Amino acid sequence: MKTMDNLIYLHSTKSTNEDAYALALKGAAHGVGVLAEKQSHGRGRLGREWNSPPGTGLYCSIIIRPSLPPAEFPRLTLTAGLALCIAIESLTTRPFGLKWPNDLYCEGRKCGGILVESSSLYHGETNIFVIVGIGVNVNTPSPAFPASLQGRASSLFLETGVHWNIRNLYDRIHDSLIRHVAIHEQQGFGEILKEWRKRDVLYEKEMQWLTSEGKVISGWGMGPDEKGQLVARDRDGVLHEIISGDVQLFRKE
Ligand code: BTN
Repeated sequence: MKTMDNLIYLHSTKSTNEDAYALALKGAAHGVGVLAEKQSHGRGRLGREWNSPPGTGLYCSIIIRPSLPPAEFPRLTLTAGLALCIAIESLTTRPFGLKWPNDLYCEGRKCGGILVESSSLYHGETNIFVIVGIGVNVNTPSPAFPASLQGRASSLFLETGVHWNIRNLYDRIHDSLIRHVAIHEQQGFGEILKEWRKRDVLYEKEMQWLTSEGKVISGWGMGPDEKGQLVARDRDGVLHEIISGDVQLFRKE
């Protein structure tokens, strides 16, 4: 383990989200990050596993102590996605975008994702924080993706043709995240939403999603609303608000 200013660098860990959460419980400050070379139990959204082999990916979690009411925390998911996308854009001219709620995409393939977890928010709690966990496929070669992800996942290397320095990329993402959280706090979520919508890969695209009743609905993406929830229009023109879950781009078989 190496500790530098506000970064803890680990050779190997279970999950950087777990490490950052434990540090935050002990009082670690806003902006402290954990970066690991590999994870044995990397966690993704919706209880999925995040495959975290050594050397090729960026696996980090950053502690955020937002000056925002807890009701606003779910929107930080979009703020973090925008910060990630803008950090990558500052290093390449390739067209990266965002798939709601916070996947990093390039040309229809997922290159990264974000898992945001908050501290307990019970009334009277004083140690309030949010952990922003970020996983990016950085120098991953195509054969390294499992068969189930072939054609659906990609990496920065595959999209740009160059190898990336993971430590420099972490610094860029960290700066961008701190800057965008400050924009959210000082100028409001509307500022974040404006930029997020410019990068929305689902906008006006045909897509499918699963309702809480287990029904599959097809419709067209209309972008996230001011609550951070995705709005979609179905074939009958009815608008739906999607709160969580998985949205898939419609693929003709
Ligand atoms: C997703 O798209 O499902 C979110 C993936 C988030 C993965 C990152 S890797 C670093 C951090 N630690 C974890 O266990 N998960 C996040």
